[in-house]
Amino acid sequence: MTTQFKPRVFSGIQPSGGLTLGNYLGALKRFAEQQGQVETVYCLVDLHAVTVWQEPQALLRQTRELAAGFIASGVDPEQSILFVQSHVPAHAELGWLMSCVARMGWMNRMTQFKDKAGKNAEKVSLGLYAYPALMAADILAYHGTHVPVGEDQKQHVELTRDIAAKFNHDYQVDFFPMPEPVIEGAATRVMSLRDGTKKMSKSDPSDASRINLTDDADTISQKIRKARTDADPLPGSAEGLKDRPEAKNLVNIYAALTGEKPDAICARFEGQGFGAFKPALADAAVAHLEPITRRMTELTADPAAIDRILRRGAERANAIAAPIVEETRRIMGMIPTR
Ligand code: TYM
Repeated sequence: MTTQFKPRVFSGIQPSGGLTLGNYLGALKRFAEQQGQVETVYCLVDLHAVTVWQEPQALLRQTRELAAGFIASGVDPEQSILFVQSHVPAHAELGWLMSCVARMGWMNRMTQFKDKAGKNAEKVSLGLYAYPALMAADILAYHGTHVPVGEDQKQHVELTRDIAAKFNHDYQVDFFPMPEPVIEGAATRVMSLRDGTKKMSKSDPSDASRINLTDDADTISQKIRKARTDADPLPGSAEGLKDRPEAKNLVNIYAALTGEKPDAICARFEGQGFGAFKPALADAAVAHLEPITRRMTELTADPAAIDRILRRGAERANAIAAPIVEETRRIMGMIPTR
């Protein structure tokens, strides 16, 4: 018999620098939309961030800014549990246990590690390699069933399923659920504004490649105006965007910001060039992002208030995760059965 697990949403974001429009549309906006229907647990994953060097003062600042970004995007710290990963010991503890379940062969297939390590694989931290096992532990420590993420995290959630299944099989239990990646909407992979084949990323050396949640209205408009496009006019339906990555990206961003379908957007702008579409996109982006940026600035002005919210979040998170990790240790024979 398979256990029916209570639906619980879990997801996380690294406090490793500023938030981009990709993080917002692929994750934060959707995190806020999940609230109210099921229990939602959102984590600022600082243990993941330190897999690459983080200046201590900068990490602290970025963690608070990220918390502000969550709240400004509509994540309500009363409705959702919002906390910092390292404040809840279950993550490191279960991370180790799950790294003993995960197989080297599985880890070797992780494309994000290969991308991040590049030719430098001998020099990167052991943590960067082990990171997907920690991510599995993050989700499993809450018996998370639904994991809203952007497309780039799909492989890691699938690995989580493999780890959970192997644990259940090896110990002959039905203890961990099989979490589902939830990858929905028009902007599950927001691309760079300079190159439609590359993901929009906070680590791209070109600031013009991304919209940051801290950019002001003029900067947003300017970046959109300068975004790379092709010379053709917009097609009459989304189908016509197939081999036009930059054009497709801009239409998808517009769709995700306004809730309008890509087909409807194409129909409205059919035959017009980007000279007409870009100002409309810039207006939509500014109208949507300006209140969020403003709220983030207000919130970061009071770090003590953010710290209080995160402390309370860690208590609530710990109350769920600690018993699950304890039970994991019991199943593994580390503490006597009750
Ligand atoms: P991170 O911090 O790189 O990104 C956070 C979230 O933003 C999404 N995202 C994007 N979505 C669409 N287009 C983009 N260009 C784009 N860039 C980023 C990511 O898919 C992600 O959902 N390993 C994770 C954090 C993590 C986690 C977890 C997530 C740790 N533990 C447990 C879910 C469950 C990461 O590095 O995301």
